[in-house]
Amino acid sequence: MALILQTLVCVFVFLYTPAQTAYCHGKPDLNAKQNLNPVFHGETRFVRQVKNGKLYVAGEAQDAFNVVHLWGTPYEMGYAHGSLVKDEAFRFIQSVWTYMEQQVVLAINGSVHIFKPWFLKEVADKGLDVALDAEIDVTRPFTGEYFFQEAKGLADATGLDYKMILRIHMIGELTKGDCSMVGAWGSAVKQPGSLLQLRALDWNTDGPFKDFPQVTVYHPSDPKYGHAFANIGWTGWFGSITGFNSKQMAISEIGVSFPDASFGSESRFGIPFTYILRDVLQFDSSLSDAMHRMKNAHRTCDLILGVGDAKVKTTLRTFAIVVLVYLVSYCKVQDSWQNPQFSLAFKILRVWGPNFYTDTDMEPEASWHPKVKDIVYYGMDWLCPGFSEVLARQLTKHHGNLSPDVVIRDVVSIEQSGSLHIAVYDLSNNQVYIANARGTYESGPLDAFDRTFVQLNTTALFEVQPPQV
Ligand SMILES: *[C@@H]1O[C@H](CO)[C@@H](O)[C@H](O)[C@H]1NC(C)=O
Ligand SMILES: *[C@@H]1O[C@H](CO)[C@@H](O)[C@H](O)[C@H]1NC(C)=O
Repeated sequence: MALILQTLVCVFVFLYTPAQTAYCHGKPDLNAKQNLNPVFHGETRFVRQVKNGKLYVAGEAQDAFNVVHLWGTPYEMGYAHGSLVKDEAFRFIQSVWTYMEQQVVLAINGSVHIFKPWFLKEVADKGLDVALDAEIDVTRPFTGEYFFQEAKGLADATGLDYKMILRIHMIGELTKGDCSMVGAWGSAVKQPGSLLQLRALDWNTDGPFKDFPQVTVYHPSDPKYGHAFANIGWTGWFGSITGFNSKQMAISEIGVSFPDASFGSESRFGIPFTYILRDVLQFDSSLSDAMHRMKNAHRTCDLILGVGDAKVKTTLRTFAIVVLVYLVSYCKVQDSWQNPQFSLAFKILRVWGPNFYTDTDMEPEASWHPKVKDIVYYGMDWLCPGFSEVLARQLTKHHGNLSPDVVIRDVVSIEQSGSLHIAVYDLSNNQVYIANARGTYESGPLDAFDRTFVQLNTTALFEVQPPQV
């Protein structure tokens, strides 16, 4: 049985060799406007507490979002999360499930194109829940045990189905998103010695995500569960898409739909990217830890990941973001080492990445992706001239003057990236600026890049004391 599974694995991998080079055709509106909304600098406001959990609200009116603090073991944190924002978590998980069901129907009849083709085929053959459970099974060996415990805690506190919680956490791996990222330091930034990082998430603003924005701050009770970190995401969601940790590090991510020949074939047998990003935030203390983790990970889909670390400095510059091309490789499962055929496949496959890039060796090399001193950037995809050149133009125009305000006013808004949410991390100053898409019952512009940003003091967040209940 195990042998049959392995055979399938490698056949699968070889079937999915990269397509011919193609380019994304999108580009921002030529009349894109600056974002002139004043940033909200106010304090977060305490709302309520439960055992191991405290709820605050950041921002005001339509741009407000929950800030949930959790303490204890992974199970206790999941339980506290579910107790503190029970109704929202329940509605969020249910709505994501319904949304996935609807989208799958539309995708199978060809009216939407958000899912990866192999996944759709499986859904058509076996149904959505079976296809997702298969995905959970193949990624389980690469998933931290804490993840399952947290899901259990959340299920126990809310009455949600444990399996449904796990299933909806696969959505990041199975859908395609475009996004942008920037790391800027040294001569590029206004404040000497500072490190700025951008994470702009372009994902479905028609789905339920926009109605449940939340920052979740984890304060683990024991070092074996890692150090303090925060996810920028949604209520009841605990994979990492966007976030930062108490070691002055932050993450960015872009899904790649338009790779070039330097990318390998995608595989589904490995660690979902939302889990590896969470491992970076939760367990890594430095950029080199994160690079080591990514190098050794069983990677799955084509991605560009960015990690910033404000602690890394050299005499010449504050060194910063490294972009990792999360090239796919492994088809190894458990005992495939015993089988020479699979070892061979493994050896051929492993030559694909990851590649780490900084400002001086950034790829792809193209006129629409010029190198800019002390900046690493990617606009929407790997091969995406329309967005990349606008991003490059704005970064060059404001080179030497980049600050969170300038990135918000003149960079993301003009590149028009970050429809669902945006984080501008001012890592050296321990601040983060967050905007979210317009919710169903809100007014104003739809996209996060046109809305009001809320500033959070990350030092203050990590200093919040546990509840006395
Ligand atoms: C796909 O299904 C949806 C919902 O059932 C329907 O509205 C739409 O017309 C269908 N599109 C095609 C191309 O069949
Ligand atoms: C952030 O919070 C810390 C700890 O509460 C405080 O010392 C610091 O002055 C704050 N920074 C800003 C810019 O408000």
